[in-house]
Amino acid sequence: MDAIALLKEDHKLVKNLLGELAESTTRAVKKRTELLQQIHMNLKAHTTIEEEIFYPAFKSAGKKEEEKMYFEALEEHRAAEDLVLPDLMKTDPATEQFSGRAKVLKELIEHHIEEEEGEMFKDARKLLDKAQLEELGARMEARKKELLQQLKAAA
Ligand SMILES: [Fe+2]
Ligand SMILES: [Fe+2]
Repeated sequence: MDAIALLKEDHKLVKNLLGELAESTTRAVKKRTELLQQIHMNLKAHTTIEEEIFYPAFKSAGKKEEEKMYFEALEEHRAAEDLVLPDLMKTDPATEQFSGRAKVLKELIEHHIEEEEGEMFKDARKLLDKAQLEELGARMEARKKELLQQLKAAA
């Protein structure tokens, strides 16, 4: 599978989950908890395959500009996954504080996805050929499967 197609599929899934979460109300405690678990697992698997496989290939195929994009993207992962998401997971889903934090997470991730799809992936298509993208895609697909299994076992 093409690396970029695979990552875009993940984006679609995570965006849908975040959309559902943002629309849920303080009464939907069970639904919020389940959605958050799904978001957590899918986001973790996605950012891990990007950081382990796609980003390094992108960075080493590029120059200064790609290096900048690489570091900005890493910081966005960190903001979402190490700061906003853990906070949200500790927040009572029956509160409006949860609603506010869920919205911020959604906006943060949507912004990140826009930058990846609008800039990084476009650039990557120029820097990496079809065979390279296929090879990266295959590696990411296998790694993602493994990660999801681990995350489900730990949940
Ligand atoms: Fe990313
Ligand atoms: Fe991504």
